[in-house]
Amino acid sequence: MSTILVTGGAGFIGANFVYYLLERYPSDRVVCVDSLTYAGNLSTLERALADPRFVFYKQDIRDRAGIDAVFEAEKPDAVVNFAAESHVDRSIESPEIFLETNILGAQVMMDACLAHGNVRFHQVSTDEVYGDLPLDRPDLLFTEDTPLHTSSPYSASKAAADLLTQAYCRTYGLAATISRCSNNYGPYQFPEKFIPLLIANCLADKPLPVYGKGLNVRDWLYVTDHCRAVDLILRRGRIGQVYNIGGHNEMRNIDIARLICRALGKPESLITYVTDRKGHDLRYAIDPEKIHGELGWLPETAFADGIRATVDWYLAHRPWWEAIVSGEYRDYYERMYNDR
Ligand code: NAD
Ligand code: TYD
Repeated sequence: MSTILVTGGAGFIGANFVYYLLERYPSDRVVCVDSLTYAGNLSTLERALADPRFVFYKQDIRDRAGIDAVFEAEKPDAVVNFAAESHVDRSIESPEIFLETNILGAQVMMDACLAHGNVRFHQVSTDEVYGDLPLDRPDLLFTEDTPLHTSSPYSASKAAADLLTQAYCRTYGLAATISRCSNNYGPYQFPEKFIPLLIANCLADKPLPVYGKGLNVRDWLYVTDHCRAVDLILRRGRIGQVYNIGGHNEMRNIDIARLICRALGKPESLITYVTDRKGHDLRYAIDPEKIHGELGWLPETAFADGIRATVDWYLAHRPWWEAIVSGEYRDYYERMYNDR
């Protein structure tokens, strides 16, 4: 029986990962550490909290003494670090907390792993560390050897954490791996992110804000495919290695907006072009050959199925996201989108 410590488990991907582990590994325990920022939601973990194999700590990863106490009490066999400030637009408004959580918080987790017998550590990173690709070169993809070249304070903080993880591997022998995944979508994603924002606004007949001309391209992956990839890397990945995760599913933002309108039976006239994001990356596209070749991973959810499941989930879980949309998020939304 193993104990896996998941940070950021009250957020979107972390929560999906918690459920993935509990369902797949009946003899594993899952310990979740999350400070419950605006993006963390304990109600997301309601089913997990009813499972005796699951423990939750409201705990900031920047707090060394607190993290040490969790390690002492739970003696984890592995740590997966999802905890982060994750929204590019917020990082443009207020970069500092991104540096603190994403870099210094990751360092605290790595120090704790070393101090407790070199606990296996996995850093969840992003394809955004590679910067962007041109729109007119569909032949170009990010490989693990693509140089880091960041555009936003968010991606810079994630790249810094990746470099620190690699430094800890080489200098202290930390048993670590890193994964860099493309854009995720699926249940429990906070409605500040593009796809759930479109769904929530569509259902309220509100304008759908599309940045610039809507021609930016993202490589969308269903969240469970990401969870399966992280789990494979944790159990079978080579120590010290970086693995890209993505599904050859490139879509323009405008096409996503049109698709959501169609899926919900709403008019495309809701789509509203707004001022572009500063430094907006043009295109992300992952080459997943390494994880496919070494670990046999391939995405299993076709985009058409994943987006249908996601829209259905938001329709069936209105109280979950309506509570968010009416809280702190409302002030953020007004700051970000009014007069844009
Ligand atoms: P999210 O914003 O939904 O969740 C982040 C979680 O971390 C929240 O529950 C929050 O409360 C918690 N957290 C934040 N600061 C903390 C701190 N100091 N201490 C403890 N907990 C803290 O993010 P997400 O979309 O689920 O992303 C999870 C990870 O995956 C991040 O590291 C992100 O960089 C990475 N990632 C995300 C995507 C994507 O498309 N969403 C793609 C690739 C990689
Ligand atoms: P987002 O979900 O914020 O993810 P990321 O910036 O990490 O890729 O945005 C996805 C794409 O959608 C990105 O190109 C920015 C664009 N976007 C909009 O056009 N309008 C919006 O309101 C948001 C939040 C994003």
